[in-house]
Amino acid sequence: MAIISDDDNNKTDKKKNEDITAEETSFDMSFESNIRPRYFEEYIGQSALKSTLKISIEAAKKRELPLDHILFYGPPGLGKTTLASVIATEMGTNIKITSAPALERPRDIIGILMSLKAGDILFIDEIHRLNKISEEILYPAMEDFYLDMTTGKSQSLKTIRIPIPKFTLIGATTKAGSLSSPLRDRFGIIHRLEFYTEEELTMVIKRTAGILDVEIDEKGAQAVARRSRGTPRIANRLVKRVRDYAIVKSDGFIDAKTADNALDILQIDKFGLDNTDRCLLNIIAEKYNGGPVGIETLATALGEDVKTIEDVYEPYLVQKGFIQRTPRGRKLTPYACTCFSLKNIDVQQSLF
Ligand code: ADE
Repeated sequence: MAIISDDDNNKTDKKKNEDITAEETSFDMSFESNIRPRYFEEYIGQSALKSTLKISIEAAKKRELPLDHILFYGPPGLGKTTLASVIATEMGTNIKITSAPALERPRDIIGILMSLKAGDILFIDEIHRLNKISEEILYPAMEDFYLDMTTGKSQSLKTIRIPIPKFTLIGATTKAGSLSSPLRDRFGIIHRLEFYTEEELTMVIKRTAGILDVEIDEKGAQAVARRSRGTPRIANRLVKRVRDYAIVKSDGFIDAKTADNALDILQIDKFGLDNTDRCLLNIIAEKYNGGPVGIETLATALGEDVKTIEDVYEPYLVQKGFIQRTPRGRKLTPYACTCFSLKNIDVQQSLF
């Protein structure tokens, strides 16, 4: 499977769509891709989604047709790109990886569509950020596999239809609600990726540790999993930080005590919350009496942008039951007040 990526915004235009093969990648990239699962067998979690995809893949292979277009949505770090690459491996096809911000001009999306071969997978990350023109170029490409191109000037303007090979588009987004309905309706398979359970993350951590040659026991892996906020990307990052701590402070072996000490130093608490999460909860409690408070106000008070709060912090805080989204803004839950001993006048009143 060749991976062609223009994901990386700091590449020059010329370099943007070049093929990247395993041999050509930098040390860091190949290191990262080493820990990425390549087959469903290696991919831990998302079991309902995997079952659906396996059936779709088998059917597509039997019918000798490309897979239907697929939309993955859910919080960042849950493995949307990884899953797209797994699908490509399982289908035995190539995948081109890009993101909507890299497809700013019509020629960007036209170029990438015209470079596809039959059966290829085109992965577009952050697909909700595609502009209207690029979206409209995608519609006939997704539906009937052709591009509508205009040539000539003013009165002699002509539209020609250029066929393109049958391909599969895999779109990924953290905000399914921001996708326009014509685009959303063109995906045959739409699936939400769920946060991982502690057990699943423990398995991810043990797998990653094995690949990185890091010694870790079951309890050590569980300690890291508990603080990884349901997200394998965070779990894999924490394994490396805990490994560094274990090398410096002991013999490199990660048990529960070593993991807990390392994560305490990183100021990640037993719920997986970091300083920003705790600050966010404190602001709602102290400045806004437990809420509700509007997201813009919250973002200003926290010094973060709205998108980061909505995409990165909020989904996990909601999933853990610490905050509630209401039409009037964000509110602390009684559970959050109990866990963090937070002041929350409204909630406390409602408790009695
Ligand atoms: N590394 C990151 N995500 C993973 C997953 N879902 N399964 C196994 N290893 C992973």
